[in-house]
Amino acid sequence: MCAAALVVLLSNVAVAFSAVDTKNLVIKALPKEIEANLGVLNPNTFTVSGISAGACMAVQFQYAWSTIVKGAGIIASAPYQCSGGSLEGAELCLNAPELESASSLYTGLEINAAAGTIDPLSNVANQTIFLFSGVYDTVVPQTNMDNVYSMLEMAHASRVTKFFNYSAEHAWITDKYGNSCSSLGSPYINNCGLDFAHVFLKQAFHDMNQMWNDTMAPLLTNNFYTFDQTQFGASSSISMANTGYMYVPEQCKSATAKCHLHLNWHGCTQDANSLGMEYVLFTELNEWAESNNIVILYPQATANILQDNPNACFDWWGFVDSNYATKDGTQVDIFRQMITKFGGF
Ligand SMILES: *[C@@H]1O[C@H](CO)[C@@H](O)[C@H](O)[C@H]1NC(C)=O
Ligand SMILES: *[C@@H]1O[C@H](CO)[C@@H](O)[C@H](O)[C@H]1NC(C)=O
Ligand SMILES: *[C@@H]1O[C@H](CO)[C@@H](O)[C@H](O)[C@H]1NC(C)=O
Repeated sequence: MCAAALVVLLSNVAVAFSAVDTKNLVIKALPKEIEANLGVLNPNTFTVSGISAGACMAVQFQYAWSTIVKGAGIIASAPYQCSGGSLEGAELCLNAPELESASSLYTGLEINAAAGTIDPLSNVANQTIFLFSGVYDTVVPQTNMDNVYSMLEMAHASRVTKFFNYSAEHAWITDKYGNSCSSLGSPYINNCGLDFAHVFLKQAFHDMNQMWNDTMAPLLTNNFYTFDQTQFGASSSISMANTGYMYVPEQCKSATAKCHLHLNWHGCTQDANSLGMEYVLFTELNEWAESNNIVILYPQATANILQDNPNACFDWWGFVDSNYATKDGTQVDIFRQMITKFGGF
């Protein structure tokens, strides 16, 4: 879910099967001995992904830190700085995307790059970018993603793949988990017969000249851990939870393998306070991460009524600070610190 005003959307569609007892799942804190083996991950294979408000954050981050982001999987984002830094602006992006101008939003990117508040736009050319926009997305209508795409073209992005052709509503897209593809409702994970995590990561690894193991591992619930987000400055006053989650593949628990790093941002109402572990578990990212030695960070937003953010969205309309879309953004800076701490770059 992208914006604050969209709380009321509910669904009668039942969530599909799950072999995992999410209610009784206990996630342990990251043990010190495993943490000691992190911080040495591959700096040349860092990728990000997100859905909805989390996709807006992924787009912000992919431009702000394009020197380190080698690939981005973006599902249902508004274009960069579309909100103009206000809730009214954010709602306008969602309700009247035909009023957006990709070229003037691109000028905003150029201004930020010239000021050095985001990395040079030239890095975007070599990023592997997968865009997904459901034909039936009623929350972030497809025009938004047309503009996300146009702006990437303006940045001469040469490795962009568009999935704008599925009969999908607004959701993270999977091959076997969640609501039916064209339905709208919590947990906003839809089974569209497309393993988005797989197609994106496989292509990104190919483009990064990395080996790819195309055997999907089972979901190993023992490999999820919590980590302390407050060490990076997270608190409810900036709409970030005290606790984040991470997936550490078996091989990456010891220092023997050269492991990779991926960062995924959930959408509004998909944080652990709202959904428990459902989003963290079922994006289908973890099974591919296991086969391919990718550590995944799942930072957590939290609701803050005073910031007009009752749905635990990440900041894409400036409710924390006006620098929200740049390296100076409070939340963006926290993610950057997480990468330094757990990735080492
Ligand atoms: C949908 O788009 C993807 C990505 O461009 C493409 O690979 C696929 O063949 C398309 N599917 C259909 C049914 O057109
Ligand atoms: C693009 O990325 C590939 C794989 O990481 C790398 O080998 C190549 O040098 C990059 N090209 C440019 C122009 O940066
Ligand atoms: C590929 O991944 C599967 C599932 O995790 C694993 O069983 C297998 O050993 C892996 N193959 C290689 C060559 O690493």
